[in-house]
Amino acid sequence: MKNITVINGPNLNLLGTREPGVYGAETLESIQAWLTGLAGELGAQLTFYQSNVEGELVTAIQQAGGADGIILNAGAYTHTSVALRDAIAAVAAPVVEVHLSNVYAREEFRHVSFLAPVCRGSICGFGKDSYRLALISLV
Ligand code: DQA
Repeated sequence: MKNITVINGPNLNLLGTREPGVYGAETLESIQAWLTGLAGELGAQLTFYQSNVEGELVTAIQQAGGADGIILNAGAYTHTSVALRDAIAAVAAPVVEVHLSNVYAREEFRHVSFLAPVCRGSICGFGKDSYRLALISLV
């Protein structure tokens, strides 16, 4: 059984009502329930964490460092956070960066990821399927 931690950053707790044209109409809870079902089929067990606070996300990455993998949607911190990048680089677990939206089709400031160079891979633009593809890749 693979243990995978799914970490979501700022404003992702608002999925469902937050810019549904960009992020879809599903809530984070509903996406997490769906992922849990998929994980069961793949023989993986998921742990979920969400925070709007950068330092709490650093701690969550450190605490998940012994997992078989981390799926991380760091939200806007993707484009700004040296602290999250250092946390990813510091842990043994492979981290897959995910985004619901295609960040490269959006504003220029979203084209830069501070995290991508220290992640195993990055998946963006497939809505909730970005998480599914990350899960499959880690398993
Ligand atoms: C996001 C993309 C980020 O640019 C944005 O700040 C988010 C969500 C996504 O899932 O598409 O909060 O990570």
